[in-house]
Amino acid sequence: MGLIMPLTILEFFRELTPFDFRILSVIEVLMARHEIVPTEEIAAYLHYTEKKVQKALNRLLNYKLIFLAQRHYQGAALTFSGYDALALKALVEKGTIDQIGPEVGAGKESDIRLAVDDEGNEFIVKTHRLGKLDFRATKRARAFIAEKSHTSPLYESRLSAEREFKALSELFKAGVSVPNPIAQNRHVVAMHIIIGQDLYRIKKNEFQSDEEILTLFNNIILEMQKAVKQGYIHGDLSEYNIRLNEENYPVFFDWPQYIETESEQAERILTRDLSNILNYFKKKFQMTVKTNLSELLLKYFDNWEFQSVL
Ligand SMILES: Nc1ncnc2c1ncn2[C@@H]1O[C@H](COP(=O)(O)OP(=O)(O)OP(=O)(O)O)[C@@H](O)[C@H]1O
Ligand SMILES: [Mg+2]
Repeated sequence: MGLIMPLTILEFFRELTPFDFRILSVIEVLMARHEIVPTEEIAAYLHYTEKKVQKALNRLLNYKLIFLAQRHYQGAALTFSGYDALALKALVEKGTIDQIGPEVGAGKESDIRLAVDDEGNEFIVKTHRLGKLDFRATKRARAFIAEKSHTSPLYESRLSAEREFKALSELFKAGVSVPNPIAQNRHVVAMHIIIGQDLYRIKKNEFQSDEEILTLFNNIILEMQKAVKQGYIHGDLSEYNIRLNEENYPVFFDWPQYIETESEQAERILTRDLSNILNYFKKKFQMTVKTNLSELLLKYFDNWEFQSVL
């Protein structure tokens, strides 16, 4: 990738003790029941004095792994960094991650880092971050983990990672061109690097001929068809979520918002994906498409069956 630097495990991570992690995971467990976990309950859970717990909480607060809130009781909740620490630790213990390095990309709802395993293999770690945590915690249900609450950023982020991992696993197994998933924990997904370039960065003159452009278009449609055959519609397909690998073959990434083909919205979302692709080819390469969108949809995806392309 050309971006390899001395990889360091996240700075705070190295300084955390098993006791710090114990407190973090107790807060996580108790967040299934509380938005803000009462200090008293953490102490009771661990059979520690409140004073000892308070001291530990202050330490975690310094690292911004938790925030403290005063309500009718005093309590604590995980921040995204605290949730990161738990997920990364689990992946380190599982042997997935050895070192984690610099950010190599950032989406609107995630950050993407380079990581290596203990054999030196590089891969991508995508941390999902949906919504913003409210440190003042004055609003209701902000950091609740277990409840299927749409106002809970940690929960939403975990759900997003789970959905992405599921889609990648099934699609990769079926031979669809997606990054090979490695592991998932909480809101973090590890996957292979797609060596190449995001489609939106490609310049027109990087293509030798119209035929090459047509081949790329056909390959994109083919991969959409293969995904649909597995029951998956990407749902956010565009030049921003496709990379071209070293063979200039398209790889589809960023899957958490996928829609199942059985969904009521399937046709609408598939039409939108297809239209994004057509618009890109029109704008970038002045490609002309004679038939209209609904005819193309019928042509390519009739009865969700494979149809020959162009
Ligand atoms: N497996 C991968 N290999 C190489 N680069 C990747 C990989 N996954 C993501 N990236 C890079 O990171 C960027 C962001 O990834 P992704 O689209 O998955 O994040 P996101 O937060 O969901 O994005 P957004 O919400 O902005 O669409 C991509 O544009 C791409 O350049
Ligand atoms: Mg994206």
